[in-house]
Amino acid sequence: MPHSTTSSITVHRLARPAGSAIDFGAELRGADLENVTDADFDVIRTALYENNVILFKYQQSLSPRAQYELTRLFDPTATGYGHGKTLDAKRSILHPDLKTIPHQPQVQVIGNGPVASFEGLENITLKHPHHKTFHKEVISAEDDRENTRFYRWHIDAALYDLEPPKVTSLMAVKVPKTEFQTLRYDDGSNDKISVSRGSTAFVSSFKMFDLLSDEDKEFARTTKVQYAPHPYIWMSPARSRSDGLGLVSDNLELDFSSLPPIEEEKIKVLPMCWKNPVTGQLALQIHPSAVQKLIRADGTVIDDLKEVREIVHRMQRPGIAPELVLGIDWEEGDMAIFNNHGVLHTVTGSFLPEEVRIFRQCNMAASEPPLSPDA
Ligand SMILES: [Fe+2]
Repeated sequence: MPHSTTSSITVHRLARPAGSAIDFGAELRGADLENVTDADFDVIRTALYENNVILFKYQQSLSPRAQYELTRLFDPTATGYGHGKTLDAKRSILHPDLKTIPHQPQVQVIGNGPVASFEGLENITLKHPHHKTFHKEVISAEDDRENTRFYRWHIDAALYDLEPPKVTSLMAVKVPKTEFQTLRYDDGSNDKISVSRGSTAFVSSFKMFDLLSDEDKEFARTTKVQYAPHPYIWMSPARSRSDGLGLVSDNLELDFSSLPPIEEEKIKVLPMCWKNPVTGQLALQIHPSAVQKLIRADGTVIDDLKEVREIVHRMQRPGIAPELVLGIDWEEGDMAIFNNHGVLHTVTGSFLPEEVRIFRQCNMAASEPPLSPDA
């Protein structure tokens, strides 16, 4: 990395829509992302951990290589894609959504519609995830063009064997601009927000922690979360709550005997709170649909799946209230990097088969586990 003591990058908080209470998100201006100096990266890394989602605009010409190199700077000894080879498993619910760039395998292409040629991928058809393939109850076909849901709130992480990536970068290459949609929670609350079609929604897991009662904060600080082995295969027959925040407990998860071989030491047990390495704040950071058990400080294990999900949903739901959601209105050339240890995010929206949208996503399995609250 070129040496320089000063950086020309400036940090600007994102404009908040009326009524919004979000306290995260910033735009960084003046960056040359093909030639990041060490002084630039100091600014970028601090901005990332202070704002949790950072956005660079006008990056249309940024190469997949430069996207990978920038993403890797946050964890220089990480090398492999965040899901490793686990996406090869045809039964994984993530399998249809991601296509790998042949010359830069840490970068995935996601989006919608037919694409004749892109970065060495020829004649591919991308499919934007639609909630009807994942939610138990769905929006009717007649309401589907105007209305949408949070598809699946998540952390980008394999949650088996590999450590959760520290950051993810997401670049909008092609964005069809159409009318906004109404995003409905459909959970009895009447909550809804307006989102641009295909908006990526983010919430702060630090805010989610701050909203807990003192008793729940203590529980969150001291409890560990055990994730199911091969979680995206395990959960494949199960269906989501309408708010996208975890699964309905109908006993549809696959039996462990029908999963690929399970190696006990690869099962992930992670703290319920992950610490921000720059601000020291605690994030309530749980992947709500992959969770299997909770392990309390005294060693007690809560292993009733329905009870585990109820506890996690009760703790997380206040943090996705409408005024706390940042929905990015993507424009071509936007590149976002987010603190994958400090936010939850989800796809939203639905597209017609012929509406072409292309995004590049990059993350790498981390070189170390997330920071625990007492780190
Ligand atoms: Fe994601």
